[in-house]
Amino acid sequence: MSTMSTMGNTGTVIAPAAGLMDKIKDRTARVGVVGLGYVGLPFAVEKAKVGFRVLGFDRSAARVAQVNAGENYIGDVRGEELKDVALDRGLLRATGDWDLLAGMDVVVICVPTPLTRNLTPDLQYIEAVTAELARRIRPGQLICLESTTYPGTTEEVMKPMLEASGLREGLDFFLAFSPERVDPGNQRYSTRNTNKVVGAGNPGSREAALAFYRQTILHVVAVSSSRAAEMVKVFENTFRAVNIALVNELAMLCDRMDLDVWEVLDAAGTKPFGILSFYPGPGVGGHCIPLDPHYLEWKAREYNFNTRFIALAGEINRRMPEFVLEKAMRLLSDHGLGLRSARVLVLGVAYKKDVDDARESPAAEILHLLARRGAAVAYHDPLVPRFREYGHDLESVPLTRERLDEADLVLILTDHSAVDYRFVVQHARLLLDTRFATRGVPAGRAEVVLL
Ligand SMILES: NC(=O)c1ccc[n+]([C@@H]2O[C@H](COP(=O)([O-])OP(=O)(O)OC[C@H]3O[C@@H](n4cnc5c(N)ncnc54)[C@H](O)[C@@H]3O)[C@@H](O)[C@H]2O)c1
Repeated sequence: MSTMSTMGNTGTVIAPAAGLMDKIKDRTARVGVVGLGYVGLPFAVEKAKVGFRVLGFDRSAARVAQVNAGENYIGDVRGEELKDVALDRGLLRATGDWDLLAGMDVVVICVPTPLTRNLTPDLQYIEAVTAELARRIRPGQLICLESTTYPGTTEEVMKPMLEASGLREGLDFFLAFSPERVDPGNQRYSTRNTNKVVGAGNPGSREAALAFYRQTILHVVAVSSSRAAEMVKVFENTFRAVNIALVNELAMLCDRMDLDVWEVLDAAGTKPFGILSFYPGPGVGGHCIPLDPHYLEWKAREYNFNTRFIALAGEINRRMPEFVLEKAMRLLSDHGLGLRSARVLVLGVAYKKDVDDARESPAAEILHLLARRGAAVAYHDPLVPRFREYGHDLESVPLTRERLDEADLVLILTDHSAVDYRFVVQHARLLLDTRFATRGVPAGRAEVVLL
């Protein structure tokens, strides 16, 4: 399948099959995207938009049916674009039939990478997909893993499973890792204009993957191995986790020292060099920051290495819901109230601003802690109509004047843009704002206390 070529000054290397490269370049390559979630669906639409014929694979029959009906279910995908590629141009279809993998020239894997209960990597989804692929792999295919994972997953877990087919990576088929960097809700950076890192164990696989990603992404960055690319992604998320923990710790210290942490951070942020702005909050959530650093922590143990920053950041960030509870209790007590008799209205349960994703949201633990102390809790979130995480099953209540007025405490956990904070400040009585969502809002009836 392979041809010989020279690449830079590394000498003679195996180049990917000319057929595959041609199909990538003229966009006749058939692209399979496995896992049509927050990462996979936008990617599939992006590839179809530029003319690739894309087949999405998902084990959820409901998602397969929705894609085939042109019905969007991911906030970052524009509904009309999905309709256009799925219905009008017929470039994107979805299926649950694994046998169709054999017909793909490129397969991109975007399945979940959660943690087990003991905070160790749970690779069951990657392994399940790789097992299906291994049964059907054929020469000339390029396989790219996009799920976030620890350095070594592509080389140590996927490659042996795929090579058990008798085909060899770099000669018969090509394998690369390219981390997804999507930032849900980000209006400025989408899949296309976010730089993409690509790493592979040999030049043939790297060349094929670079050619593929360059078709749709403005700037593609090559690194020397899939392990390096895997490390890039977990480092990026660890960087965020550690810096968020640093400002969360500062928030707890400022609270004790009677200083306004937001004033301190705003002023520090005016330094034109050597500082990056991070803000405190009620804890971290989503599919990335609370989970990914633990993938690296686990892998580091194999090298007898303790990733102390990761452990400390996790400890501080996981403590934030308790801190919010303590602060809420203090506030109520200052007004002669206890949690047991209090009515608390939570604003926002999504894990961050302007997204509809409540996975791993710190709101789940805060609601649990409030309810355990006897508070009567309701929530409003314009993007999360029903909250069914960790044993909760609540429905968002309308944000009315009466609701705000009757609440002993209004607790802002997510700073969605769609909420009218002026209205909230006008009608609430006591407001604990953990995100400084009320920044710039004129004073009203509510006593506003920041985290
Ligand atoms: N959501 C983000 O913001 C984000 C950002 C960067 C990276 N990531 C990473 O991307 C990966 C995917 O995350 P996501 O948020 O898109 O997940 P998701 O839960 O939104 O989507 C995953 C999809 O995979 C499907 N799936 C699960 N097992 C499958 C299987 N065996 N075969 C076929 N389909 C299967 C699910 O039905 C679901 O539709 C994770 O590794 C995550 O860490 C996520």
